[in-house]
Amino acid sequence: MRRTNTCGELRSRDIGKKVCLQGWVRFSRDHGGVAFVDLADRYGITQIVFDPEDVPKGTDVNNLSNIMRTFTRESVVSVNGIVRKRVEGTDDGRNPTGEIEVLITEAELLNRSNSPPFELGDQKEGVLPNEDTRMRYRYLDLRRTEMVQAIETRSKFVHLIRQYMEKNGFLDIETPILARSTPEGARDYLVPSRVHPGTFYALPQSPQLFKQMLMVGSMDRYYQIARCFRDEDSRKDRQPEFTQIDMEMSFVDAKDIQNMIEGLVAYIWKGLYGKNLKTPFMRIGYKEAMESYGSDKPDLRYGLKFVSLTETVKNAPYDIFQRIIKSGGIVAGINLKANIAGEKIGRNEVDRYIHQAKKFGLGGLTWMRCKDGKLDSNIVKYFTPEVLDKIKQKMGAEEGDLLFLIAGPWKSTYEGGGALRRKIAEDLDLVPKDEMQFLWLVDCPMFDIDPVSGKHDAFHHPFVLPENDLDAPYVGGACFDLCLNGNELGSGSIRIHNPELQREVFRKIGMSDEKIEADFGFFIEALGYGAPPHGGMALGVDRFVTLLLGKETIRDVIAFPKNKKAISLLDKSPAKVDESKLEELQIISMAIGDIDFDNLENTEE
Ligand code: AMO
Repeated sequence: MRRTNTCGELRSRDIGKKVCLQGWVRFSRDHGGVAFVDLADRYGITQIVFDPEDVPKGTDVNNLSNIMRTFTRESVVSVNGIVRKRVEGTDDGRNPTGEIEVLITEAELLNRSNSPPFELGDQKEGVLPNEDTRMRYRYLDLRRTEMVQAIETRSKFVHLIRQYMEKNGFLDIETPILARSTPEGARDYLVPSRVHPGTFYALPQSPQLFKQMLMVGSMDRYYQIARCFRDEDSRKDRQPEFTQIDMEMSFVDAKDIQNMIEGLVAYIWKGLYGKNLKTPFMRIGYKEAMESYGSDKPDLRYGLKFVSLTETVKNAPYDIFQRIIKSGGIVAGINLKANIAGEKIGRNEVDRYIHQAKKFGLGGLTWMRCKDGKLDSNIVKYFTPEVLDKIKQKMGAEEGDLLFLIAGPWKSTYEGGGALRRKIAEDLDLVPKDEMQFLWLVDCPMFDIDPVSGKHDAFHHPFVLPENDLDAPYVGGACFDLCLNGNELGSGSIRIHNPELQREVFRKIGMSDEKIEADFGFFIEALGYGAPPHGGMALGVDRFVTLLLGKETIRDVIAFPKNKKAISLLDKSPAKVDESKLEELQIISMAIGDIDFDNLENTEE
């Protein structure tokens, strides 16, 4: 028996054909001795029928009947048969093969399946088990239509990337997995060297240094579907190992890179949906994004913009605001218009949001409601009528509008405000679900500066080209992010190509000359051999596909993901290794037990 067709292929045009189908028994039912089986594979589901009254002459019905009895759920089987029209009224129109069925003439059990631990049919038929069970039996979970579709879309997505990059002259170049650490801000996964005990490779957090050295090596246009590894806490949009579409170009400016990426996204769009995507994407500066939307990856699909009130309230005798403003903080407000939100948020909900605000790291939340033409709340007594009037004007407050005011240090307050803005929008269903809004975050700073210690950290990473003198009061960085609906899809920059400037930036983020030499001496040396001006970008493949498919978590677009606690429940890793292996690596063994995979604590994020 050799398969002639897949389970998603046959239509009424095939009626009368002799076929051989092979696949999994998804569902079977017996109607008075006639067996109906939904035979499934990656391509679809075809109904196959064993009808003892209706088999070709000479068929050993008993034998066939015995074989059919072995067709238990999820067993893999092979059948020969004849395509025939399905009885009128038994096709609900949802299954593309629904007009036909295959009358079985011969059958064979290829491999029986143990009873599956959960239902693999459409959600309508069975309720999904918890995610850890799906992960434990991922090979079964993958058989579900929804997972097949996710994996297919991901494959097509990557294929389109490759097509576009090749068309544009990019070379697909692999970079090492065993290498020295790259500073992308997370912890490294370390791999001990047996040959040189006590030394370690680090799995790449990204191919950053290698792709830059490829530019030094004259490769001009590089890309890679690159595996990256970061030891950081898992989240809905983060995995310990993930995939980037990583690229780098020589002799370009930031606009060239952005144009290339916009072209790529539009190409993917056309390939997946057959539609033209509007480019160029809108651009928003980091400061404006933070001060208007409380986020460096703002979601502009809905309003709820913050307005600065620092100047307006700076002389009001309200102690809390006074203290904050004097120590360099900000006050800002958001207007929840009466018809959109204000009227839906009563006094109890206001209290709930005050509680929420604290969870988001805000010191508190001040509220005012516009009533009888005036702002009213429990704190209006601390403001003169003139200041209240100015707040009202600045916020454009009208009858019934509710104002939320946030106050505190610039960054944490806007970030907390941004989280609150998102929560309100979600609660009130203000986010248009089927709109896809791409935007570029531009005009970013070079450094993140701790307001207390003054310590400098790289805002993106330390290879970004600074746009001003490093001693200037504000240093911009030639970096940018691509955002989609409030998520960061990718980031890129023009890089430093001058070795001395690279050293200066490392010093600025607190590295000693010895440390710079030890960690990055080889890289700075490479820049010294005629590094061309260059820049590039990386987009998260898992994140992008998750958003395109409207999935909740990136785990749903990865064939074998780790769970929320960085554990692979399928192969039960990480795991202890044999003492002998540790001895070989000269690693002292730790008397810590293995993970108890059967009794994992509840792993909610
Ligand atoms: P960055 O660190 O911003 O930049 O990463 C680029 C993109 O990779 C995705 N990403 C992740 N996806 C899933 N799980 C994770 N743990 C994870 N971490 C990052 C995100 C992110 O936007 N070398 C630079 C790029 C460059 O400058 O060219 C870099 O890696 O979508």
